Amino acid sequence: MVKIGLLGCGTIGSGVVELLAKEACHRNGLSIEKILVRNKDKHNNKPYGSKLTNRFEDILKSDIDIVVEVMGGIDPAYFYVKQSLLKGRHVVTANKDLIAKFGNELQKIARQNGVRLLFEASVGGGIPIIKPLSECLAVNSISEVKGIVNGTTNFILSRMANSGMTYEAALKEAQQCGYAEANPEADVMGFDAARKLAILSSIAYRSNVDYEDIYIEGINNISADDISIAKYLGCSIKLLALSRRTEKGIMARVAPVLLRNTNPLAGVADVYNAIIVKGDAVGDVLFFGQGAGKLPTASAVVGDIFDIVRHSLGNRCQVSSYEEEAPTAKVDMEGCSSDFFIRIKPRSRVEAMDKIAGLFERFEFVFPDRSKLQRPVDPDQIVFIAYDISEGDIDKRIKSLKATTSVDNVLSILRIEREDQ
Ligand code: HSE
Repeated sequence: MVKIGLLGCGTIGSGVVELLAKEACHRNGLSIEKILVRNKDKHNNKPYGSKLTNRFEDILKSDIDIVVEVMGGIDPAYFYVKQSLLKGRHVVTANKDLIAKFGNELQKIARQNGVRLLFEASVGGGIPIIKPLSECLAVNSISEVKGIVNGTTNFILSRMANSGMTYEAALKEAQQCGYAEANPEADVMGFDAARKLAILSSIAYRSNVDYEDIYIEGINNISADDISIAKYLGCSIKLLALSRRTEKGIMARVAPVLLRNTNPLAGVADVYNAIIVKGDAVGDVLFFGQGAGKLPTASAVVGDIFDIVRHSLGNRCQVSSYEEEAPTAKVDMEGCSSDFFIRIKPRSRVEAMDKIAGLFERFEFVFPDRSKLQRPVDPDQIVFIAYDISEGDIDKRIKSLKATTSVDNVLSILRIEREDQ
């Protein structure tokens, strides 16, 4: 059994409780033993009620293996995390303020005490970025890290761009949706993004990039006119966190920028985050996903817990990615259905079209407008889209099509990827 102590049970904490309550976690022997909260009354009637405490000592007194800090802020999180590491507990935290300011010191304490401090959820919410950057890309010399790392400001800028809203109206909506805090300063002034950039850059360049050294501009002065003229220029305005290795050191800044719509970051909308890392061996790698929110962030926290269980607790419970005794899965294509783009070369155009109409219930012929084609295509072919055909069925129908004298050849059969699947 691996025992977990949770510090805080707000949005992310309750997400962690929810994910660890999954049947698989119980089966695998992961259990939350204690939950530290300020006010126990706020959590009345919760299923985890018996585990609540408001004394940090209770966490350290019990035989907890992993302390999970999801309370946020520096005080008292710094003290609790430090004490936990000093007392030989592994720590998982989602706290970017803490890691940006004290990450270096806390990592040192963890090493000295033979335990681990993991913080995947501190940047990019549910996006795995810390581990890929520090482990999977470790052989690379990283020359640049850039991205959209603040969901709240991205939501505000997206709303301004999509509906012509003013900054004030979009901020209000972000607050109503629960993205922006009542005091939105940390997000809109760029401080939150700068802390995340400090964490990413410290790992990427293997040096201590101090958050205070980062040049910061927020989005609070962006007007509806800026957005509208940027749009006219074929650009989107995004709060970009950027750091680069230069001959003189590290350049790091957070500022709103115009991105051409061809840039992959320009299409990242709402609370989504995306980060591009440039390595000398790998080239550009793009990470994309939900940068905030209860379950995405909790997913990253629980990923770190599993990592500690696997690699530092002698696999005391089963969280391996490949189950040793797993049954062989049945791979079934026949039942899946798709839309298909089909091109045929007819012998008799009219008869072939008749045959198609007889074989496919839902279909549509495509008659390309020649003036809009990139290059001329054979005018003698028949192009049609057949809708919702199962993989088991498509072969049979194509065979019947080929068997008719009106069809000379089937030139292409391509699946159309549907957005709703
Ligand atoms: N306020 C942060 C954001 C939360 O909007 O991205 C996730 O770190």
